[in-house]
Amino acid sequence: MASVLIVGCGYIGQRVAARLRARGAAVTGLVRTDVAAQDLRNHAIRALQADLDATDPRALRVGGFSDIFYFAPPPPQGETDTRMAAFLEALDAGSAPRRIVYISTSAVYGDCQGRWITEAEPVKPVTARGQRRLDAENRLCGWAQDHGVEWIILRVPGIYGPGKLPLARLRAGTPVLRETDAPYTNRIHGDDLAAICVAAMDGAQANTHYNVSDGHPSNMTDYFFRVADAAGLPRPPVVVRAEAEQVFTPGMLSFLQDSRRMKNGKLITELGIRLQYPDLDAGLKSCFE
Ligand SMILES: NC(=O)c1ccc[n+]([C@@H]2O[C@H](COP(=O)([O-])OP(=O)(O)OC[C@H]3O[C@@H](n4cnc5c(N)ncnc54)[C@H](OP(=O)(O)O)[C@@H]3O)[C@@H](O)[C@H]2O)c1
Repeated sequence: MASVLIVGCGYIGQRVAARLRARGAAVTGLVRTDVAAQDLRNHAIRALQADLDATDPRALRVGGFSDIFYFAPPPPQGETDTRMAAFLEALDAGSAPRRIVYISTSAVYGDCQGRWITEAEPVKPVTARGQRRLDAENRLCGWAQDHGVEWIILRVPGIYGPGKLPLARLRAGTPVLRETDAPYTNRIHGDDLAAICVAAMDGAQANTHYNVSDGHPSNMTDYFFRVADAAGLPRPPVVVRAEAEQVFTPGMLSFLQDSRRMKNGKLITELGIRLQYPDLDAGLKSCFE
């Protein structure tokens, strides 16, 4: 029976843990805060508490796990993922797992000017957010190759689901870009992503990337409009790009720099995934039931 560690056991990690516990696996979740550790215990998940920004990696006891899911985000600044570096150093001091599944982001592809892309698309991140993710991918692959450990990288776009919708932003009336200026954006429902993570750990194929998406991209403004409609909230006001550059936060602006549509054929055929929420209409319904 697999012994599983989920590094960064938050929204997706807890969904993955629930699936694995249902089939009898022993699951440990690594989180940073007291509140998150207590939340794991409340869900009968063993909690390991450590801050990957501050802990001496060698002091972390991460040995003895066969399957590791790495879901912690990189730090908010810089172009390297120092958290991934610290975690790999911690693994050096323990025993190597069989396989590591990593949630990266589609930001590693940079701006594809709205083109449909597959996993064959070269990576060329334009934002620091994308560069940190690429750094994490490269560190993980290099380490795994050196240690004979299998890896799977999932390049994930916007995650949505119950409790993970931009409702606060809609209630605040924060403007969105007018639809003709808005970049393409891709999405995946949290429950489908959790199923994909488990399938990636179970799958025969190793040492490969998958683009994760429900296969129905739209523009970002359409997304906010449809969430507002489903929630019974007013649609947000619309601004042109020049105005957006004045009023949007740097974080919001960084999401306007990339435009691409992601094909999900490899995910569907190689991992045998049947999406529970193959488009936004189906997924939003699940958020308000
Ligand atoms: N939101 C999106 O649309 C999107 C898109 C693509 C990829 N992703 C990525 O997908 C992954 C999973 O997402 P999620 O929604 O499950 O994220 P989440 O709910 O925010 O969970 C992140 C987890 O990482 C832990 N963590 C953060 N900083 C840490 C540190 N310094 N040391 C140790 N643990 C730390 C958190 O612990 P605490 O709660 O204790 O801080 C939490 O358990 C994340 O890497 C996220 O960035 C998200």
